[in-house]
Amino acid sequence: MKLLKIDSLHKTFKKHKVSAVDGASFSIFKGEVLGLVGESGCGKTTLAKLILRLIDADKGSIFYKDKDLLKISHSDMRKTRKSLQIIFQDPYASLDPRMRIGEVIEEVYDIHKNVTGREKKNKAIELLETVGLGEVYLQRLSSELSGGERQRVGIARALATDPEFIICDEPVSSLDISIQAQILNLLIDLQKRKNLTYLFISHDLGVIGSICDRVMVMQSGKFVESGSCETIFRNPKHEYTKTLLKSALLS
Ligand SMILES: Nc1ncnc2c1ncn2[C@@H]1O[C@H](COP(=O)(O)OP(=O)(O)OP(=O)(O)O)[C@@H](O)[C@H]1O
Ligand SMILES: [Mg+2]
Repeated sequence: MKLLKIDSLHKTFKKHKVSAVDGASFSIFKGEVLGLVGESGCGKTTLAKLILRLIDADKGSIFYKDKDLLKISHSDMRKTRKSLQIIFQDPYASLDPRMRIGEVIEEVYDIHKNVTGREKKNKAIELLETVGLGEVYLQRLSSELSGGERQRVGIARALATDPEFIICDEPVSSLDISIQAQILNLLIDLQKRKNLTYLFISHDLGVIGSICDRVMVMQSGKFVESGSCETIFRNPKHEYTKTLLKSALLS
């Protein structure tokens, strides 16, 4: 089943006349892990933000099941947003250092107004356990956590609304190499257990190859090729993909 169907999505940042996303069309199937790879500045994060309507697209359509996210009302989008989440690149920038972890997670429930008091705390504890942290973390400040622990909190927060689809935007690239594997394993485990669908953004082909079913290669706002990881890795057609593969083999 197609969970998301994106057609001819465009975004130009007028101030600098940057065509950040230039006609993106693709589908994501339920339960799939779809990789998105490309050099810095090619438009990956912009595409992620467009899909979640964190920024407005110039044109195109984004169907989530039978709803065009660019056409539905704000209140409908607010409800839909619970099902669509994102884990950001930088766990340092995405968490307020003055907030306690309990507050960071409970805040999600304040926005969605569907749980109260004690229930919120219990849900926060349950989520912290799901991501390999315990109840003791409720009172910790995010500034007191390591990068890996912060990214676990970022994952817990994304899971709080029980989403169906998560965009992982370079979730491990700011982490130490030994922690990267732990966080990747947690993400894979969650995906399998909860039958989640991921759009997994990375510039690391090793990471993409180890967890994705299919991959799309992006360059300057456009998809230059896409297909199963096996096909793309074994027989890259585009010069840019070949260069990426060569540099991955050298690193
Ligand atoms: N708010 C903005 N205003 C103007 N230009 C922007 C804005 N956000 C992004 N851009 C530009 O759009 C292009 C794509 O940026 P984007 O952040 O999507 O790249 P990226 O592929 O995620 O890069 P990275 O791998 O470094 O995270 C870049 O040229 C960037 O400078
Ligand atoms: Mg980015």
